[in-house]
Amino acid sequence: MLQNTELKYYIETWGCQMNEEDSEKLSGMLKRIGYSNTEVKEEADIIIFNTCCVRENAENKVFGNLGLLKAMKEKKPNLIIAICGCMMQQKDMADKVLKTFPYVDIIFGTHNSYKFPEYLDMVQKEGVQIKEIINKEEGIVEGLPIDRKSDVKAFVTIMYGCNNFCTYCIVPYVRGRERSRKVDDILKEVKELVSLGYKEVTLLGQNVNSFGKDLGDDMTFAKLLRVVNEVEGLERIRFMTSHPKDLTDDVIQAVKECDKLCEQIHLPVQSGSSRVLKEMNRSYTKEQYLELARKIRKEIPGVSISTDIIIGFPGETEEDFLDTLDLVKEVEYDSAFTFIYSRRNNTPADRMENQISEEIKHERFNRLVKQVNEIVEKRNKEYNGEVVEVLVEGKSKNQEDRLMGRTRNGRLVNFEGSQENIGKLVNVKITKAGSFSLTGEEYK
Ligand code: 5AD
Ligand code: SF4
Repeated sequence: MLQNTELKYYIETWGCQMNEEDSEKLSGMLKRIGYSNTEVKEEADIIIFNTCCVRENAENKVFGNLGLLKAMKEKKPNLIIAICGCMMQQKDMADKVLKTFPYVDIIFGTHNSYKFPEYLDMVQKEGVQIKEIINKEEGIVEGLPIDRKSDVKAFVTIMYGCNNFCTYCIVPYVRGRERSRKVDDILKEVKELVSLGYKEVTLLGQNVNSFGKDLGDDMTFAKLLRVVNEVEGLERIRFMTSHPKDLTDDVIQAVKECDKLCEQIHLPVQSGSSRVLKEMNRSYTKEQYLELARKIRKEIPGVSISTDIIIGFPGETEEDFLDTLDLVKEVEYDSAFTFIYSRRNNTPADRMENQISEEIKHERFNRLVKQVNEIVEKRNKEYNGEVVEVLVEGKSKNQEDRLMGRTRNGRLVNFEGSQENIGKLVNVKITKAGSFSLTGEEYK
């Protein structure tokens, strides 16, 4: 394999933590064969776009960025352009990309990113153009090097794919069926992270509550949580995403009882209307969701509940939308990601006739955001004057002289404190609460 210490790569990642983690693996593989990372696109010898297709605007951004690379490639003919990720797994997309942007050198999908160094070698030695998309998921490839962004907290994927087929969602088509990693492999990774000084892990999967169902033993997600909780030296464990239909009592009990498990549950509701939920194939009603949220709040003191909400699903009426607003008020979310429904090719919702106009979607979206912000701010204000435990992740994004970290239940805190504390747990007294973050000072 070609070794080169001079060459630099640039990776741009769109989408969810799964994609972030895939990019960390691409980066890890490239570093292992001697490349170095750059944050400046113009300096790069290899540019990789790791794409997302969950919503149309993510796709448009990729197209826009690919267009801009044409001039760069003309100036620098040896530049290698690679594009990968979920977008490439869509039917005919790779061909469309090659036709519109013929200067792309390598196209690959979500199931074969471990082969990237091989593709790169072929392009460099033989000057060929490579397109390889594998439609069937292969076994899980273990042991790839990962070049992680943070030194304090890490994502650990515990399962890949999704079996749920929510009618609006493209993920099951581009990420394949659910596959769990072996418990031993997960534990090995977590222990390695701890030995490197990491303090927090987030266990990742599209639907973590299904963990273990395909492993053939009686492993469950709750059991995995208890096993990871035993890892010495680890301080905090989070997990996402939980599907409300699958979040079982044993998981709630594990969060309640295990000291390292943080009091935070990401529980996407998608809509507050039972009718729309049925059309979305979500398998729960508004009432069942509310019941579950109440149970979580009752069982786990100080828990924060976050969610994803889509507005403008086909056929959503004003009444359906009011049900969503009502649910948001009832649950009093600690944070919420809000999305405008985006039509995705070949999904059942795309074929529904009663699509909602852009105007109505935007109008509802604005009302929802207002409602969410009011509630999140109200909940954050409850922390004013409180002393909270923060895991210090690094310097604040906008104010370099400050530190940033998160509370156990996931709130972002910016505060004045000593840099020596990066990577440590400290107590912070909250002095100000906004809708996105808390501000405070170290409390000794
Ligand atoms: N349109 C808008 N939002 C979507 N999501 C998934 N598919 C779509 C779509 N077609 C949202 C869901 C999911 C989050 C990751 O993205 O809320 O939970
Ligand atoms: Fe998409 Fe539904 Fe699977 Fe989440 S659970 S990835 S929304 S199909």
